[in-house]
Parts: sequence; C-alpha cells; structure tokens
Amino acid sequence: MPHSLHLTKITDLNDRHDIYGPIHKGLRKAQCDLLARLGNVDFGDARATADLLSDMRALLVLAAAHLEHEDRHIHDALRTRGAASVDRLDHQHDDHRATFAELETLLASIEAASAEERPGLGRRLYLAFGTYVAHDLEHMHEEETVAAPQLWSLFSDAEMMAIENRIVGSLPPEKAMAFMRLMIPAINPAERAALLGGMKQQAPREAFDAVIEFAARPNLSAAEFADLARRLDLVA
Ligand SMILES: [Fe+2]
Repeated sequence: MPHSLHLTKITDLNDRHDIYGPIHKGLRKAQCDLLARLGNVDFGDARATADLLSDMRALLVLAAAHLEHEDRHIHDALRTRGAASVDRLDHQHDDHRATFAELETLLASIEAASAEERPGLGRRLYLAFGTYVAHDLEHMHEEETVAAPQLWSLFSDAEMMAIENRIVGSLPPEKAMAFMRLMIPAINPAERAALLGGMKQQAPREAFDAVIEFAARPNLSAAEFADLARRLDLVA
C-alpha cells in the first residue's frame, strides 16, 4: 500500500512545541541499533544471546510505556477537542501491543531452546522485529506529520507543555532515567541542550546531576559531552 510521505506537512515543521520529536528519535535509534545487533549476534553464544534478549525486553517495556503515555495523555486530549483520526492511532497502538506479545513468545522460545535451535529461532526474531520497526517508523511518521499539526491547531504551546509535564511527572525515577538514556544520544546538540537545560532549571539538583552522570556522559562521545557541558555551563 502506498504510504503518503506528507511532505508538505514536513516542510511546515515550525517553532511549535515538538512533543513527539525527542522521544521518537530515541525510539528510532534504540530500535534500529537493536535490529542491527539482532543481525550480527552469534545466537550460538548463550551469553551474548541472553544479553541481547535482556536488552530487547527492556526496550519493549519502554516502547509499551510510550504507547500508554500517548494513549492516556495525547489521544484523550485530542479526543476532548474533537480531533479526527484518533481511532486510527489507537488501532496502530493496539497492533503494536499484539506484536509485542508475539515478540515475547519468540523471546521465551529462544530462552528455552538448545544452542542448535537458537540460530533458526534468532533469524525468526530478527525478521519479526524488523517488521515491527518498519511499522513503527511509519506510525511515528504519521504522528509527527498528521497528529502533531492537529495538536498545534487545537492546543497552545503552554497546553502542550502541560501535557508533556504530566507524562514526565507520571514516571518513576528509574523510568525517567531510562527514557533519558534513549533520547540523549539520539537528538542533536541544540535539542540536547534544550532538553537538559530545561531540566537544569526545573528539576532538583541531584536528579539533574544523576541524568548528566548516568544518562548523558556514558551515552555520548567525549566531543558530544564536551559540547553539552559548554552549552549547559557545567563545571568540570
Ligand atoms: Fe504512537
């Protein structure tokens, strides 16, 4: 089925609050990185396989949490203001959840398999996850080119910031840290400075320091971290 690229809408991207941008960049990068690892891991190696499956489960938990955040905080808000096509996004989220259950079944079957059986099952997992990523890339594209303009037409930036703050405020600290680990290496230097600059101003000092030490420093190159430290005026 041809998939509209909504190119005119992409060029409309403006200075409005980009509620989807950073988290979607984080999910794209993490999911594509994981897909590449599924392609080059030695499924005969029990330790390497266990590490990969554990990382994959952790990522799927975050991806599922992200869908719930959008359902509860964005789709409901869109519905309240009479936006069209929210059902379509809901259905895409339901399809993702069904896929997560199938992927979990496959993960469990690999864990229960012998070293001889694992490469064949691993290939199935690689193909299945690749298809999920393909669907998710299209889904996120629709959110950023169709749902985001609807949000901009129905909500002020202050209202969108309030929606985002409700999502962030609903997260336990370890989940918030996990999302920061996804986003920080995936976004560009200016976006990184904006995200963490906002946190520096609003969050408790210990929480900000923890994100710098445990989410930013280990996930950025030395040059990227130096750039961030300069932009945020961090004392070495
Ligand atoms: Fe979504």
